[in-house]
Amino acid sequence: MTPQRVAVASLLLLAGCAKVVKPGDPVPGLTRQQRDRFARGKTVFDSTFTPATGLGPLFNATGCGECHEDPVAGGRGDEIELHATAFHAPTCDPLVEEGGPVAQLHTTPALKQALGIDSEPVPPSATARAHRTSPVVFGRGLLDLVPDSEILSYADPDDRNHDGIRGRPGRSLDGRIGRFGRKALVPTLREFNAGAFPTEIGVTDPEQPTEESIGGQPIPPGVDPVADPEITQDAVDLADDFVRFLGAPTAAKLGKDGRRGRDLFSQIGCASCHIPKLRTGPSPIRALARREFPAYTDLLLHDMGPELADICLGIATPQDFRTEPLLDLRDAKTFLHDGQAASLEQAIERHGGEAAGVRDRFKALPAADRNAVVAFLKAL
Ligand code: HEC
Ligand code: HEC
Repeated sequence: MTPQRVAVASLLLLAGCAKVVKPGDPVPGLTRQQRDRFARGKTVFDSTFTPATGLGPLFNATGCGECHEDPVAGGRGDEIELHATAFHAPTCDPLVEEGGPVAQLHTTPALKQALGIDSEPVPPSATARAHRTSPVVFGRGLLDLVPDSEILSYADPDDRNHDGIRGRPGRSLDGRIGRFGRKALVPTLREFNAGAFPTEIGVTDPEQPTEESIGGQPIPPGVDPVADPEITQDAVDLADDFVRFLGAPTAAKLGKDGRRGRDLFSQIGCASCHIPKLRTGPSPIRALARREFPAYTDLLLHDMGPELADICLGIATPQDFRTEPLLDLRDAKTFLHDGQAASLEQAIERHGGEAAGVRDRFKALPAADRNAVVAFLKAL
């Protein structure tokens, strides 16, 4: 490159880094071909299935975009799911042979006619049930690329620094570090995205070519005549790329209050779990490689106390939850895994367990300072 070209290229690079990412925008710097896949993947994500195109026989919704939709594709949704597992300390049984851990809330007309049910029965051996709101999936492609070593560097299972905050990584059943889902069970974005087709929509894909059971029982003959797999590998790959390329929204410009709130967020210890910025490792996708991005999570499991507790999953106990990334809070209407907090203040007040000390510091702040923290969160 000539010196002039180098100068132009680095200016473009700087412009790319400084670019504001709005909710639903792709990460800056994708190639034209990747932008094309993002657009085509969005079509798959937003498409709706019918029984004739593979929906069901059990399902929670007719397409990804029915749940991840607000304010744009990839955002939150008002669907609330039902999960159930059995906890026999220290082990967790996901009750797969009884149709767990997700009890789908809808059935196709054909299944309803055959079995007379309009949802999957909750596994009879369940020791707890959980409600799950549909979160944003923004920035998940970046979270996928945070090196394991960085996640492990935040873990402090024995609380060696005596701040009351421990944190340990979730694990998949085969022992890899988990990062996706409220209980950090799923290690890669790819697996979560591909798994959502059968679990949420009842659509089999080449990676999971057989329908899930109905409460552990096989599907009655004739109920699901569409040949498996019900979508192509190409469609799965495109939907995966759409989610992968969704950027992490940049915070709105902070006013005086917001800046004070951002400082307090660190000072009182929120940032011990909600790590403001993470950095990705190498990737063949240059726009995702070695990027610093707003994350507000350590991707670790924390004991949040008895009030928030529901189900176990993998190594996560009923009280353990993965630190929720704080992304696009400006558009959120309810908070926490079950949507039970109607405001940001309530969400903070319901933090317990390892977060109890930090929560109490928040509650002890003068009202103007508490409002400043909330103003900061509303800019995210
Ligand atoms: C019925 C509503 C619903 C549908 C349909 C749905 N999802 Fe989700 N999605 C959820 C819920 C609920 C969660 C949170 C799960 C949890 O709490 O562990 C979630 C979580 C995710 C996550 C992980 C986010 C995180 O923070 O770890 C990804 C990625 C995702 N969904 C992608 C998809 C894709 C791709 C599709 C379509 C194939 C899809 N979802 C369809 C409700 C839905
Ligand atoms: C010990 C780790 C920890 C600390 C400290 C902590 N949080 Fe959290 N935070 C979590 C976990 C885990 C969740 C998910 C809980 C759930 O979904 O029930 C969460 C959820 C949230 C949510 C809800 C996000 C959503 O999309 O629903 C907000 C807002 C939040 N935290 C803000 C804060 C603030 C502000 C502070 C400081 C006063 C703080 N947190 C301190 C771990 C922590």
